[in-house]
Amino acid sequence: MKQKESIFRTVIEPFIIKSIEPIVMTTRAEREEIIKKAHYNLFKVNAQDVLIDLLTDSGTGAMSSEQWAAIMRGDESYAGSQSFQRFETSVKDIFGFKHVIPTHQGRAAERILFSVMCKKGSIVPNNTHFDTTRANVEYQGAQALDLVIEEGKDPKNLHPFKGNMDVEKLKNTLSKFGSENIPLCMITITNNSGGGQPVSMENVKQVKAVLSNHNIPLYFDAARFAENAYFIKEREAGYKNKTIKEIVHEMMSYGDGCTMSAKKDGMANIGGFLCTNDDLAAQKQKDLLILTEGFPTYGGLAGRDLDALAVGLQEVLDESYLHYRISETRYLGEHLTEIGYPILQPPGGHAIYIDAKELFPHIQPLQYPGQALSVEMYIVGGIRTVEIGSVMFGRIDRKTGQETPSEMELVRLALPRRTHTQSHIDYVIEVMREIYDSRNELNGYKITKQPPFLRHFTADFEPISDY
Ligand code: F0G
Repeated sequence: MKQKESIFRTVIEPFIIKSIEPIVMTTRAEREEIIKKAHYNLFKVNAQDVLIDLLTDSGTGAMSSEQWAAIMRGDESYAGSQSFQRFETSVKDIFGFKHVIPTHQGRAAERILFSVMCKKGSIVPNNTHFDTTRANVEYQGAQALDLVIEEGKDPKNLHPFKGNMDVEKLKNTLSKFGSENIPLCMITITNNSGGGQPVSMENVKQVKAVLSNHNIPLYFDAARFAENAYFIKEREAGYKNKTIKEIVHEMMSYGDGCTMSAKKDGMANIGGFLCTNDDLAAQKQKDLLILTEGFPTYGGLAGRDLDALAVGLQEVLDESYLHYRISETRYLGEHLTEIGYPILQPPGGHAIYIDAKELFPHIQPLQYPGQALSVEMYIVGGIRTVEIGSVMFGRIDRKTGQETPSEMELVRLALPRRTHTQSHIDYVIEVMREIYDSRNELNGYKITKQPPFLRHFTADFEPISDY
């Protein structure tokens, strides 16, 4: 659906609210108690103790009345269900690939794809691998290379397509490792780990041209494909008058397949899929699917989930929705910038990333400035976010116990789809204003207990009272 021009500045939510979930209000004193009991780890806070949950945009969105209606049509037959047929038709209509393999979420599609395509020593280039993508590549004994353009690594750079892959670096990778060792190349749209930044059509074409010369297939990590297409429509010459669907069609025409976490632009609470044009690979993928996910016409999902996705994937193409979606993120980003927050610029599609290292120069990286900001946002306003810094990516030398901080200390404010109103966002901005004013008084944290891997989920923290 095309976006209708409006003469007004206020971008209204292009929907009304039909079903609500109450927020349980808490006081600052209550939240101080809650976070202390959770050992200052926001993953250990119960959802009902959060006022505005910006932990992730994955599976946390609201479904439409059409999706709920579709759920009632769910056909739960084990094989060949109508739900699968509707899902497959919807995915093919948008993505155009020959084989559609449902999975319970994105990482299951990744595991199956890399199990089939990679072997020990393989190289997989990407603009930036998302964590689960990297982990699934490495699990096969392969190497995951991030080849995003240099502008994409500079938080202040205003390049319109900071998610682009560096084509020269790709060429160098091909000559260094030999194309026979590169079973596939991926492009993540939008580039989540790089700040939700889009990839241009021109870049995809250039990457495809390089790969074609070497017969290397191109796969998209398409989790936020519609948001990426909207940025292309807004920013790239020649796409202003194209529909989102036309833009997606063109982009996918340069690819050989995709993985999808449908918990994002699938507009549903669970689901994913894997697509390919390769008959042989598809057969192997379906064999693996049966082993762990389920029969190829449900892949770990209920029929009703497939129906919700069949509808959600079409709804996400609505330009009024995407206009509101991208405007909401931008609105939050612009207001935080106005207050003085150093954020990863320009605002991406699904989230705003605050640079906590720059915000708190008095908190050392190994006193976790991102954690300090996240905890403060919870205490002051009941807002839950995620630290993407040394808590998540700091490396500990197993022999010496020495810890190396991560390159960046970010806090991500991810916006669930169709879930919050403008006043929720205004509330976040107000809370952030108060925190900004007291930023020089905040302390860092130390870790008192941690598991050997993925520590951010379960580690215990304590505030450092004097530094
Ligand atoms: N690819 C990208 C770009 C993602 O952002 C995610 C998930 C995945 C793959 C994995 O998909 O969760 O369905 O298995 N990102 C979530 C996030 C978890 O919070 O950014 P999944």
